[in-house]
Amino acid sequence: MKRKLSLLLVLTMLIGMITLTGCGKEAGNLIGVAMPTQSLQRWNQDGENMKKELEAKGYKVDLQFANNDVNLQIQQLENMISKGCKVLVIASIDGSSLTDVLKKAADQKIKVIAYDRLIMQTEHVDYYATFDNFKVGVLQGTYIEEALGLKEGKGPYNIELFAGSPDDNNAYFFNGGAMSILQPYIDNGQLRVPSGQTEFSTIAIQAWTSATAQARMDNLITAFYSGGEKLDAVLSPNDSLAIGIVASLDSNGYGTADKPYPVLTGQDCDKPNVKAMIEGKQSMSVFKDTRTLAKQVVDMVDAILQGKEVPVNDTETYNNGVKNVPSYLCEPVFADKNNYKELLIDSGYYTEADIQ
Ligand code: BGC
Repeated sequence: MKRKLSLLLVLTMLIGMITLTGCGKEAGNLIGVAMPTQSLQRWNQDGENMKKELEAKGYKVDLQFANNDVNLQIQQLENMISKGCKVLVIASIDGSSLTDVLKKAADQKIKVIAYDRLIMQTEHVDYYATFDNFKVGVLQGTYIEEALGLKEGKGPYNIELFAGSPDDNNAYFFNGGAMSILQPYIDNGQLRVPSGQTEFSTIAIQAWTSATAQARMDNLITAFYSGGEKLDAVLSPNDSLAIGIVASLDSNGYGTADKPYPVLTGQDCDKPNVKAMIEGKQSMSVFKDTRTLAKQVVDMVDAILQGKEVPVNDTETYNNGVKNVPSYLCEPVFADKNNYKELLIDSGYYTEADIQ
């Protein structure tokens, strides 16, 4: 009996050791990449680029998309932690809801890189890689300033303002950057906001949804532009909102000599939006080359795991409510129908067929 028991014990230990080492090998270089959703083109590209770049350097990748569902993203992160991922790269859905799960990661000494969107209210985020989000807004505001000739004193013009999702820290930076250019013209009367809706909380579109932006634009047109008032410009922080706004403009009869499309901004250079720029329905977008961001994050992962100094270029701008998170900011670039070929096609980001 005793011998049988000890044999059983030895066997159990052996199996345990095999599983552990097996697992260890598997997890030895496993990186978790958590993306918010597949519903928007950019996050698919981000995910694919990250996977490709990490695998090229010999890492294994657990890539997950969370369908814009915060609880699903938390579950995915918990799985990554229990699988033994060494680094988590996270583009959060709600930047403030990951505190508990990231505490678990920290307990396992797993490093965390916030990808594109800052993770808020936790000390357990080690690095942040993104584009200069304030500058994105400045590019949008400056485009409107130039298109309307505001510097030359022209106006008054009518503008309506949109902002991104209130649970995304980036949305405040985009808005801050754009308003740093536009607010002085609102103050001096060159720009008028007929709806009077300028507060972030009023103009924000939850979850960056096109349909919500479309519905808000419909309401604005009905309430403030149905008596022949001209709509000169719409500040849209990104392309998913711009698509909704264009749909609303189209269904309300814009795009004629009497009712031309207003100046309309965007961000991401999503394929439908590049088409809209070519057709003259959207004026500009901001190109954030996801290949650049992915490469940068892979360099960060590499440096972390090799114990080298992690490349950052900003340690002051991004405070998450608990600490300044060391960041690497990539450069966003202005795009419109005049330069999209050079930016997007010549660089191999899209093929001509992609945007036809
Ligand atoms: C990203 C934008 C994107 C938006 C909606 C932001 O956090 O920086 O590129 O358009 O989320 O997904």
